[in-house]
Amino acid sequence: MSHADEPAGSRRDFLYYATAGAGVVATGAAVWPLINQMNPSADVEAMASIYVDVSAVAVGTQLTVKYMGKPVFIRRRSTKEIESARATAVADLPDQSAENLNKPNTDASDVNRTMDEAGEWLLMIGVCTHLGCVPIGNEAGDFGGWFCPCHGSHYDSAGRIRKGPAPRNLPIPLAVFENASTIKLG
Ligand code: FES
Repeated sequence: MSHADEPAGSRRDFLYYATAGAGVVATGAAVWPLINQMNPSADVEAMASIYVDVSAVAVGTQLTVKYMGKPVFIRRRSTKEIESARATAVADLPDQSAENLNKPNTDASDVNRTMDEAGEWLLMIGVCTHLGCVPIGNEAGDFGGWFCPCHGSHYDSAGRIRKGPAPRNLPIPLAVFENASTIKLG
């Protein structure tokens, strides 16, 4: 896997690791293209997997990889982020579904959102469920998670929508730890 650094001064969570050569850098909250014709067909999508080395991701930081034309946030949460997410009652959430392909038909409890039991690793598609902007991360917004400045959607430290027009939690794609330092996505 190769990677490309973003221009100096832009946010660290917009650093993109590309899978095949060209690095892609997004700045600010640009609208992510959601044109269906440009997406890969379902069969291509079903076949493709990428492997992401997360050994360099420190606690309290995240990296963004590009997968199937979309940004995927991989965050290694701090104890504070984990505790805050786990202290939130499902009944208080606008979207009470986990929105997690790895755990279908489960509720939006924090344990159903994270990759590991301890809740350190959270991986999700970084596209706002309102109209497709890329939310800003690193404990942003009123709930210490992600904030979409396009129309003011606040997601918590589990990527669950808490306030604003977005209808659903940030979706979690198929992903698994292949070994201690590598995530297989897809
Ligand atoms: S696109 Fe995120 S709030 Fe509208």
